[in-house]
Amino acid sequence: MSGTAKTGFRGSTWFKLVWVVPVAIIALALVVLAARWMRELPAVQDFIARYPGETHLPDGAPVGLPAWIGWQHFFNVFLMVLIIRSGWIVRTKQRPAAHWTRNNTGLVRTKNPPKKISLDLWLHLSLDAIWFVNGIVFVVLLFASGQWMRIVPTSWDIFPNALSTLIQYASLNWPTENGWVNYNSLQVIAYFLTVFIAAPLAAITGIRMSGAWPAKARKLNKVYPVQLARAIHFPVMLYFVLFIIVHVTLVFATGALRNLNHMFASRDDGSWAGFWIFAVSLVVITAAWLAARPLVLRPIASLGGKVSR
Ligand code: HEM
Repeated sequence: MSGTAKTGFRGSTWFKLVWVVPVAIIALALVVLAARWMRELPAVQDFIARYPGETHLPDGAPVGLPAWIGWQHFFNVFLMVLIIRSGWIVRTKQRPAAHWTRNNTGLVRTKNPPKKISLDLWLHLSLDAIWFVNGIVFVVLLFASGQWMRIVPTSWDIFPNALSTLIQYASLNWPTENGWVNYNSLQVIAYFLTVFIAAPLAAITGIRMSGAWPAKARKLNKVYPVQLARAIHFPVMLYFVLFIIVHVTLVFATGALRNLNHMFASRDDGSWAGFWIFAVSLVVITAAWLAARPLVLRPIASLGGKVSR
């Protein structure tokens, strides 16, 4: 009996955590020590002096964050939280509470009858559609306003500068923040990857798995099989979750009030304005999270299709 209990504990998540947590802490401590040791070396000091951690912006780059970026950022966070949650439910729920079949009338009419999908997937796809439009508007405004220069690498110096920032972060002696004017190179690379690689990947693999994809396009589907899309879609979600954890941690650890003012109040000072707007946005997101249940979703989903068991 005690033998089984032991095996149960050994195989359990708790047992793994008992090991994983201290090992991770020791590994992190070693990284910090190694980075501190490196920063004592003259060659590394020269390197950091030469590449302080940010590249020059092209001439005419805008200064500061206008209100539209704040709004788009809020919509993106709002939708992203619910998209990750609904995607996770699609992946893990065995028996969905309800299903949805699109009405094949009105604007979107197809030759083949629409497939019945779970209400969870209906929510995921509906949020995706709004997120996609928000993303397109964002990219158009980004290029129309010149704001793209702040998150698209424009010189090869970005790589040594990103390495320099990484060493500075790892040594716990962080680079000075100047996000209102210019992001550090590690930030530029992370934002570029998220906006221009991860987001399009999520969309193109998601569309491949959805009913909107032409199922009968033989040649196309041979080159781009659904299994490939499925194998990419979930790791992309993991990337987003990792990005969000690191991003939010750094927002709070590198001058929280100032950073929140940049994104939520379009101002560059240390007042509490941005913090309170951020707090309200969290209330709105939490309310939406709690409301995303069949009781509330059914009547909305019924507007465009038939909801059934
Ligand atoms: C335009 C954007 C997107 C579209 C069209 C889309 C579409 C889909 C579809 C059709 C599925 C169901 C797959 C199946 O039936 O097996 C799915 C699952 C999922 N989606 Fe998305 N998605 C999009 C964006 C995202 C984003 C941004 C995330 C998270 C960052 C995400 C996370 C997930 C997860 C975790 C699953 C479950 C995957 C699995 O079962 O392995 N999706 N998505």
